[in-house]
Amino acid sequence: EDARLGGFPHYMQKEIFEQPQVFYNTLQAVRESPDALDLLRGRDRLTIVACGSSYHAGLLYKYLLEMYCGVAVLVEQGSEFKYYPPPLSGTVIGISQSGETADTLAALKMAQSRGCKTVAVTNVVGSTITRMTDATIHLRAGPEMSVAATKSFIAQLAAGLGITDALTDGSHAEENTRINVRIEEILTIPITEAVGLCSSASSLFYIGRGLFYPAALEGALKMKEISYIHAEGYAAGELKHGPFALLSGETPVIAIAIPGAAYPVMLSNIKEIKARGAPVIAIGLAGDIELAELADIFIELPKAPESTAVATVSVLLQRLAYETADSLGRDIDKPRNLAKSVTVE
Ligand code: G6P
Repeated sequence: EDARLGGFPHYMQKEIFEQPQVFYNTLQAVRESPDALDLLRGRDRLTIVACGSSYHAGLLYKYLLEMYCGVAVLVEQGSEFKYYPPPLSGTVIGISQSGETADTLAALKMAQSRGCKTVAVTNVVGSTITRMTDATIHLRAGPEMSVAATKSFIAQLAAGLGITDALTDGSHAEENTRINVRIEEILTIPITEAVGLCSSASSLFYIGRGLFYPAALEGALKMKEISYIHAEGYAAGELKHGPFALLSGETPVIAIAIPGAAYPVMLSNIKEIKARGAPVIAIGLAGDIELAELADIFIELPKAPESTAVATVSVLLQRLAYETADSLGRDIDKPRNLAKSVTVE
C-alpha cells in the first residue's frame, strides 16, 4: 500500500498531484479520437448525460461549447433523463469516469432507442459505456483510487477543452498546451488561512459565473464529500434569491472572480455578501488589487484566460477540500456512505 501511495498520505493527494501530466495525456487522447470527434462536428446542438462530478464536467462542456463553438448544449442528470427524456436528436455524449454508472448507462440506452448516436467520455478502457456507444474518448487519467473524483474530473475538463479546440479548427491548441504548467503552479500555492476558515465553518457557499459556476458546484461537492461540512455551489447571481437569509459570520463564501463578461457584477455580488457579514475567500488572478481589497482572504492564481483559469481554479478547490478534510482528520479516500461507482439505479 505504502509503495502505491508513493510517499503521499492519501490517494486523493497523490491523484491531485498527478493532474499536470493527466491534463497533457488527455489532450493527446482527444486528438487520437477521430471517430468520436466526427460524431460531434457539424451539429448545432448536443445533449450530455452524466452524474455527480461528471455532471459538473458536462456543465463545463455546455459553457465551453456554447461560448466558443456556438453549439447549443443540453446537460441532463442520468437519473432524470431515463424517465423524463428531453426531445432528442443528433448526438448524445455520456460522461462517466468509471463507465459503469447505472443511471448514465440507462440514459444512453434510452437515447439510442430514440435513434441518437452516442459518444462516451470515460477513464476505463473496456467499461460498459465503451461497449454500448458508437465512439469513445478515453481519458488518460490512470486508475483513480480515492472515492472523490479529482484527476478524472480534470481529465474530463481537458477532454472538453480538446473537443472545443477540435470544433474550432485548433483555435485553443496553443493555450491548451500551457495549462499543465499552470496546474503545476497551483499545487504549491499556500492556502493555510483559507483552510483554517473553512474547517471551523458550519456551512460554506461557493459562487461563480459562466465556466466558474460548474467549478463552484464541483468545489462544493468535493468539500461535502470528504470534509462533511455542508457546502453549496451557486451561480453568483442566484445567492440573493434565498441563500442570503443564511449568511452570517459563520458561513464563509468562496467567490471565484476571474476577469470575463460577468466580472464587474461579480465584484458587486461580493460587496453584497460582505454587507451581510459573511467572510469572503476570493479566488482571482494575480495583481487584482480591487478584489484583494474586498476579500477577507485573497488567493491569487497565475494570470490566464478563462478557459485556462477554470482548470487552475478547479485544482485549487480540490486542494481546499482535501486540506480542510485532512485538518479535521477525516477518512479522506473512503468517505462515509459513498461508493466510487454506483451501479444501481
Ligand atoms: C459516484 C462517485 C462520484 C462520481 C459519480 C459518477 O457517486 O462517488 O465521484 O462523480 O459516481 O461516476 P462516474 O463513474 O459515472 O463518473
